[in-house]
Amino acid sequence: MKIPGLIKSVVIIWAAWYGIVYLFTDLLGAPIPASVMKMYMFFIIIGVFMAFTADEETAEEIFGPFRRLLFDRSHRVLRSIVFIVIPPLVFMVTYEITRPTLDAPVELRAVHPAPPSSFMAFGKSFNMLTLENPYRSLERGKPDKFREAVNEGRTVYYTNCFFCHGDKLEGKGHFVKGFNNPAPANFREVGAIGQLQESFLFWRIAVGGPGLPNEGAPWASPMPVWKDFLTEDQIWKVILFLYDYTGHRPRTFGK
Ligand code: HEC
Repeated sequence: MKIPGLIKSVVIIWAAWYGIVYLFTDLLGAPIPASVMKMYMFFIIIGVFMAFTADEETAEEIFGPFRRLLFDRSHRVLRSIVFIVIPPLVFMVTYEITRPTLDAPVELRAVHPAPPSSFMAFGKSFNMLTLENPYRSLERGKPDKFREAVNEGRTVYYTNCFFCHGDKLEGKGHFVKGFNNPAPANFREVGAIGQLQESFLFWRIAVGGPGLPNEGAPWASPMPVWKDFLTEDQIWKVILFLYDYTGHRPRTFGK
């Protein structure tokens, strides 16, 4: 039995599509981008079309069924059905695609996402509930030592952070043009770090943008993972500096 050309061409195109997806996704483990897929399929369809229309006989196998449907007297009933069914279908699909939806946007980014109850850094686990800045007590107890720690934090800030967070901590460093979605935090803003505990800042600085939980999506934060570049001490001291410079007080509970 001979397979009709129209069916053959559809099967070839479908097999090519399935084969490419299977090759990339299952065998190579890398899903193929839709734009590349469209390009491949464009050339495959053109190729199949050229092969089937190369001579009269095979071209007839492809176009024949359409011509008979449109013009043959014996196909009158089928023709009427097709022309009554297809236009409403096209209408429905177009309507569904263009209809505006009233749903809320899929995700809203939380600027201060809830931290985990504990996290790993510097080879140990930090408990967010009990975590405190070890230098904070010096503020009252040993003001000289406290100043020293703040100054060390200043050095950490101006060697690492001001590129993005700005030399006045206003979030307008010279990298901002490239990294502005989301923009670097403005530490001077009222209600910014004054609303946050030092443990929260420690967590955010240690894990950076890649450590943001899902509520931090969909924007990709360029904030670096500072636990890979700074010591635990340096992070606590730069936090002292952020509060000292801006005049904000860290948020504390129950004291
Ligand atoms: C490459 C640019 C870049 C550098 C360098 C950088 N940051 Fe950031 N930082 C960001 C961006 C962008 C955000 C805002 C998005 C986010 O929360 O991740 C941010 C957010 C933060 C936050 C969270 C503030 C909040 O309100 O939740 C803290 C704290 C912070 N940075 C501290 C630092 C410190 C300290 C340094 C230096 C050790 C530093 N950053 C260096 C880009 C940077």
